[in-house]
Amino acid sequence: MREIPRDLIKGLREGQNVAVLTGAGVSAESGVPTFRGQEGLWKRYSPQELATPQAFAQDPKLVWEWYDWRRSLIAPLEPNAAHRFIAALEKRYPHFLLITQNIDGLHQKAGSTRLVELHGNIWKLRCTEEGTVRDDKRVPLPQIPPLCDNCGALLRPHVVWFGEPLPPDALNRAMEAAEDCDLFLVVGTSGVVYPAAAFPQIAQSHKAKVLEINPEETPITSVTTWYLKGKAGEVCQMLARALDLPLGG
Ligand code: OAD
Repeated sequence: MREIPRDLIKGLREGQNVAVLTGAGVSAESGVPTFRGQEGLWKRYSPQELATPQAFAQDPKLVWEWYDWRRSLIAPLEPNAAHRFIAALEKRYPHFLLITQNIDGLHQKAGSTRLVELHGNIWKLRCTEEGTVRDDKRVPLPQIPPLCDNCGALLRPHVVWFGEPLPPDALNRAMEAAEDCDLFLVVGTSGVVYPAAAFPQIAQSHKAKVLEINPEETPITSVTTWYLKGKAGEVCQMLARALDLPLGG
């Protein structure tokens, strides 16, 4: 990918209401493994054994060991140019929402504040009895599985597992943004996990222009106005240059 289409730059300059959907690919250049593809986590680990409520009920220690390992992997990593570009876009538009499927917290580390986390956050723990949520950035966790200070019940990662509903507030805000935006950016998602995978189509059917950035074509590519083939960090750096948007870092 060498050239940025002129009408895309115009669209990004003139946009007023922008939504961005990100998936694991946006964090790949930071060193976070994706789920699918050659090196994907789901090639080496079974989601049924590690990322379902049944798996946690059966073997909370095993599930926690896996999340503790992922936390230790992510903790030292830094946001890349794509995270920083998306954080810079947020400041540019009166209406903006970042919808992320990622749980790694790298968007916030890059400065994003107007965001919804559809699948939760690996740096938050939730009491299985009281439902209370707390921040916890300790790596490694001192005790596995961790227990609630207040009631002694098991704590679980505050993430969405297979078979669980998405947080309704995040889902509603994401849906509204997809319906209302004039520009919808999709960065680094395989577009196979719903409902997130439906948002680009919803945006397009409400007349938004859709930009996809991904080294591989996906089921979303067919609804795009522009498809920029390439790595998120590299493509976003080019877009930032074309828009005179300083990225720092
Ligand atoms: P996937 O692993 O399914 O897809 C990653 C996407 O990123 C693929 O389309 C890759 O081509 C693309 N990609 C890889 N490197 C990239 C790069 N440097 N720049 C841009 N794109 C790149 O991840 P998601 O689509 O996020 O859910 O997966 C969706 C959900 O499935 C996840 O949130 C997770 C998973 O099971 C839960 O755990 C609930």
